[in-house]
Amino acid sequence: MSHAEDHEGTRRDFLYYATAGAGAVTTGAAVWPLVNQMNPSADVQALASIRVDVAGISPGTQLTVKWLGKPVFIRRRAEKEIEAARSVDVSTLPDPLARNANISGDAPATDANRTLDEAGEWLVEMGVCTHLGCVPIGDGAGDFGGWFCPCHGSHYDSAGRIRKGPAPENLPVPLAEFVDDTTIKLG
Ligand code: FES
Repeated sequence: MSHAEDHEGTRRDFLYYATAGAGAVTTGAAVWPLVNQMNPSADVQALASIRVDVAGISPGTQLTVKWLGKPVFIRRRAEKEIEAARSVDVSTLPDPLARNANISGDAPATDANRTLDEAGEWLVEMGVCTHLGCVPIGDGAGDFGGWFCPCHGSHYDSAGRIRKGPAPENLPVPLAEFVDDTTIKLG
């Protein structure tokens, strides 16, 4: 195959994928990153926000989604997890800051400052250990009923706050909000 034919083949492939993408979705949203791939800022913008359907998450369980290449834990906490997290004296925490991108950077690490809703049922946090970046194990793992990072033994509580081990900070809470009763928007 000559160089010119090869080039033509590549161009046809591109057109095929673009058409397939347009046909696969009704909103055109999936085509957006492809069309804008030459424009880094628009591309980053398109990927920076995703919507997650949380209707299927029952109390005491969680969903892990991938966002910007990293895991995000979306946990619907059971009553006992909420109670345990809310009864903690903030002055005893290794990291006293909320680490919540939705509020002020100097807000204290109270449970209410970490959760998405006022009742404290929903906790959204990055699933990346603040020590060296492993993905902690969830579902009540560790000594504090939250998450445990087996890499070097960091224990997080049911609000995702570091309680024991080498991790220096609480698991970060990313920009997140409910856009309707069952949909959380990240970013
Ligand atoms: S990476 Fe989690 S404890 Fe080291």
